[in-house]
Amino acid sequence: MTQPDQRLAGRTGLITGAASGIGAAGADLFAAHGAALVLLDTDRAGGQRVADAITARGGRAVFHAGDAASPDDVARAALFLSCAESSFTTGTPLLVDGGVTA
Ligand SMILES: NC(=O)c1ccc[n+]([C@@H]2O[C@H](COP(=O)([O-])OP(=O)(O)OC[C@H]3O[C@@H](n4cnc5c(N)ncnc54)[C@H](O)[C@@H]3O)[C@@H](O)[C@H]2O)c1
Repeated sequence: MTQPDQRLAGRTGLITGAASGIGAAGADLFAAHGAALVLLDTDRAGGQRVADAITARGGRAVFHAGDAASPDDVARAALFLSCAESSFTTGTPLLVDGGVTA
């Protein structure tokens, strides 16, 4: 199988609604192209599963449980992108909305 190009290497992204559907598919695709991702969803088990699958394939993704309708939850996930705990800090931000209307 052809390896996807790494056109998003060095980019960091926050994907909401990432545990299933459009968000999960977007997370898989963006990670395959080299983006480092924070995944946000209210579904803890599903979100962790998507992050684990990306990591197992050699991609970079961490899951944060949270509600896209909560400014605090979104702020916490976004803050993670810029804190020392994150290894994603050097990328150019990339905001991806999985399509959830909150
Ligand atoms: N699938 C399609 O073809 C399609 C086409 C057009 C529009 N849409 C719209 O796009 C949206 C997503 O569609 P989907 O098929 O990916 O749905 P989905 O149900 O498979 O995925 C939605 C994800 O968002 C999460 N979520 C829901 N509310 C949330 C919240 N407040 N905070 C964080 N996470 C939350 C859910 O837990 C779930 O993981 C829907 O609004 C849908 O109506 C879908």
